[in-house]
Amino acid sequence: MIQIDLTGRTALVTGASGGLGTAIAHTLAQAGAAVAVHYRSGRAQADSVVTAIKAIGGRAQAFPADISDPEAAARLVQDVDRVFGSVDILVNNAGMDGTCAVVGKDDPQHWQQVLAVDLAGPYYCARAALGIMQKNARGVIINVTSVHEFIPWKGYSAYTAAKAGLSMFTKTLAQENADKGIRVLAVAPGAIQTPINESVWSDPASLKDLDKKIAMGRLGEPPEIAQVVAFLASDLASYMTGTTVAVDGGMLIYPQFRHGG
Ligand code: BGC
Repeated sequence: MIQIDLTGRTALVTGASGGLGTAIAHTLAQAGAAVAVHYRSGRAQADSVVTAIKAIGGRAQAFPADISDPEAAARLVQDVDRVFGSVDILVNNAGMDGTCAVVGKDDPQHWQQVLAVDLAGPYYCARAALGIMQKNARGVIINVTSVHEFIPWKGYSAYTAAKAGLSMFTKTLAQENADKGIRVLAVAPGAIQTPINESVWSDPASLKDLDKKIAMGRLGEPPEIAQVVAFLASDLASYMTGTTVAVDGGMLIYPQFRHGG
């Protein structure tokens, strides 16, 4: 039987106190990894993720940091390395959609904040983790992008720019490290039911509109992303690097084009 086996690996999952990050942390632990549960402000949620992982016999610890601060991100990675003895898997999951505002009616400071969290944060964490991974000649970095690395989204120019940027960062980092035993990949989720898009799925009219944009006609569940992340982090994906895997129920196959055109 083929199994995803991450036994003996340490994974750092950013933004693991909620949404996709919680599911990713839990799934990596189910596959046998020791998991560093990063959070910024959701201490109680991070603690309950740690408790849930321990309850299934796994190893986990919560680590606070503001990853948009380069020094804090570097410290986070060092702390994880000190506590667990290595960082073999980094999942750059922490991110924010930002406030909806078209360019010109938006706030430049807010634009920069989205870029700082969604793009610079993954860069700072990856930069720090690379030192450890290069020393061990082993590692996997997975950046959580979005279908919006491909699809423009009115009112979310900072988010789309950050995610498209993160996609090219993924490819460049993969190219720089392909001969060093380090794989770098992106996962692009579509609309997954988490607190980030609760205002959309909790309203029947906007949920109906969103479902029409998904070929499978439904939102995804967090484990449907987490399972792909676990696969990519494992040796089953040993020949994969420098690419984005979309996990979107067919958002990117233009379901509107099933008719007409
Ligand atoms: C965003 C969600 C949105 C989804 C589909 C994701 O990247 O975070 O808020 O529902 O894309 O548009």
